[in-house]
Formats: sequence, structure tokens, C-alpha cells
Amino acid sequence: MLELKHDLRIPATRDEKGRRNFVSGLRSFVLHDMAAGLRHVYAADVEPRWKRRRGRAPRNGSEVHEAIRPNEYFKFYSALRVTAQDMVYQTVRPAVERSRESLRECAAGLAERRPLGSLELDPGLPIPRSVSAVDIHLMPGSYHSEEGPDDLTAGSIYDNRLAVSSFGLMGQNLDDIGQTVARWLRHARPQFAPRSILDLGCTVGHNTGPWKDQFPDAEVHGVDVAAPCLRYALARARSQGREIHFHQMNAESLRFADASFDVVFSSMFLHEIPPAGIPRILAEAWRVLRPGGLMVHMELPPNGALAPFDAFYLDWDCAYNNEPFYKPYRDLDPRRIVRDAGFDPAKFFEVALPSWGALSPREWREALRAGTAIESGRTGRLARGVRWYCFGAWK
Ligand SMILES: C[S@@+](CC[C@H](N)C(=O)[O-])C[C@H]1O[C@@H](n2cnc3c(N)ncnc32)[C@H](O)[C@@H]1O
Repeated sequence: MLELKHDLRIPATRDEKGRRNFVSGLRSFVLHDMAAGLRHVYAADVEPRWKRRRGRAPRNGSEVHEAIRPNEYFKFYSALRVTAQDMVYQTVRPAVERSRESLRECAAGLAERRPLGSLELDPGLPIPRSVSAVDIHLMPGSYHSEEGPDDLTAGSIYDNRLAVSSFGLMGQNLDDIGQTVARWLRHARPQFAPRSILDLGCTVGHNTGPWKDQFPDAEVHGVDVAAPCLRYALARARSQGREIHFHQMNAESLRFADASFDVVFSSMFLHEIPPAGIPRILAEAWRVLRPGGLMVHMELPPNGALAPFDAFYLDWDCAYNNEPFYKPYRDLDPRRIVRDAGFDPAKFFEVALPSWGALSPREWREALRAGTAIESGRTGRLARGVRWYCFGAWK
């Protein structure tokens, strides 16, 4: 299991470390080995049976789900995956709860010693029901719940949970997506020099930080609705020497002036938004972008771009992992929602970027040169060889 590399790292007992390692390994086993078995079971047994009955193969992810649901291997895979997800929280939560006070002290100490960046909280901000009414991906208390004043608990649970559940694939600082997208932008547009960058739904700012590293002259901002995650994000950024400005705001109604950013970015954010909120968020991105600016969202690839089995595979979380908007989001057509938000369709793009952390810098550049087309079965999958899907447009 990966050890966090910043001052908010919390002490864990030897048993807790052992359990975390076990759960990390279990997740990796389920998402690599068992997932490969699931694909085989589908091709060798489930699909042929469906074809015999219906005279054709399943046409989309929903039909694959219907076909595979009674299968014993699928039931075992799903039960183990749900159990592993639950165990992730069981392994990190006791240590975080023991450390509540020391996390607060650590954040206060960093505010004195290294007062980089800022935090603007809005205690009156209504928390969207999409966050408060469901323990998203089984995270107890979701992102926003607070356990007393100046609390950082939810942020710490999120950071530690990601370290266990991503089994090394998100990089040493859990920032592989931010690293990949920010580096791709520098690589693809070396002349582009953004003065201000905004990350929507930044949680603990792990994927916000790389933007400051790649564009040190830019002012970097992150917004989220969850105060305990933002407190943690500020302290995490300070501990890593990054100047980032965090704001408690709803991305559907930003409190920034028109044309105030050169880049609006998000990562793994839109799939947690109810369908009605997506057009509002993209319209806000359009509003706050300067002409010539870039909107780029790293997300799960759209169902329309994937083979039926792969669409079903990624939608698993919607049915079994408390991610109610996963599938409705992935059923949308990115090109259409970007156009409807006011962007010029000719300036739309979508790419599947090779993970920065998985390759040497030379291999990464070669992989980019070799192509960024969406590969069904690889793009967006937390597994070796992952490619991060991104879409957006220039304004
Ligand atoms: C899956 S997390 C995003 C993770 C992070 N961006 C990353 O790169 O891993 C979704 C985040 O969006 C936040 N969120 C949900 N709805 C929001 C909204 N309408 N406005 C701003 N933040 C929101 C949640 O509090 C949560 O922190």
C-alpha cells in the first residue's frame, strides 16, 4: 500500500498497516485478475447463451448487465468488490478518528509556519442532496459531514481511502490524473501560458496541485462544496509548498466574475452530478473562461464510445457502489453537452491520455505520439495501462 507523503499522514498501528496492504491487494486482485475472468466468462458463456435465446448479442451495457446478472462468477465478483470497498473504509477510519485532534493541530501549525494560499468557507452554502443524501462510493458520512469545529476528518478519510483503493495506480501523491492532464496541455500547447486555473470539485486538492507545478506563474483555485475536504486540501497543499486558493462553492453557481480563468478543469467530478446539474456546470465553465481559454474534464469515457461489455463494466458502480449518477452521466454525449453550453463545436476535443505515472517521460511522449484514441476496455479502467479520458473545448 502506498504511504502518503505529506504532513497530514496519520500514524497507523502495525495491524492497521497490514490490513491496508491486504485490502489494497484484494482490490487489485478483483479489478485485475477477477475482472479478466469476468470478461472470459462473458465471452465464453453469457453472451453465447443470450445469442441463442435472442438471436443477437447484447446491444449495450444495460443488456450485458441483464444477461450477466444471474451468473455465479459475476455474483462472486460483485460481492467481493463491494466487500473490498467497505473494507477500505474499515481499515482507514479508526486511525483517522484517533487523529482528529492532531490533524487540526497540524493544519493550524502549517497556517502559522507556511501560510501559502487561502481558504474561503461559506457556512451558509446548501449542500446538494446528491452529496448529502447518499454515502457516495460507500464513504461513511460522504464528503461534507463535520465532526466538530475546524474538522478535517472527511478529507483525511478520502485521502487515506484513495491510497488504499488505488493500489499505486494514482501515483505516489495520488495525483496521476492532474499530472497527466497538466503535462499533456504543456506538451500539446507549449505557447499557452494560463494566468489563472480553476479545478471544479477538487475534494482534497490532490489533482489541483500538479497545475501549480506545471504552471507556477498561474494563480490556481479549487472549489468544492465540502468544508472538511477543503480544510484538508489547504493544509495538504501548504505542507507540499504549493500556493493554492480553495473556495467552498457550488460549481453550478460560481462566485467568480465572467472571463476570470484561462483553464477550467475537473477530474472524476461530473459523474457525481445529477443530470440536471451538468448543463449548469458547463455553462458556468463557459462564463468564467476567458476567450482563448480551455475547459477540460477528465472523466469516465462515455458509453457511446465503448463496446457493450466495457460500458457495462464501468457502469457497475452505478448499480453496486452508491454512484447513482454514474450511468446517467456516462449515457450523455460529451460533444452535445459542450455545444449546448455555448462552445464552438469545431473546438471540441476528446482524448484518452496515457497515465503519466505508469511510464518514463520518454515512453509517455511516445505513447502520446502513438495516439490518444479511446480504447474500449482500457480507457478509464483502474488497471495497469490505464488511459485517462478527457473532453472539453477551447473558448
Ligand atoms: C469524486 S470527488 C472528485 C475527486 C477529485 N476531483 C479527484 O480528482 O479525484 C467529487 C467531489 O465533488 C464535490 N461536489 C459534488 N457536487 C458539487 C458541486 N455541485 N459543486 C462543487 N463540488 C461538488 C464533492 O464534495 C466531492 O469532493
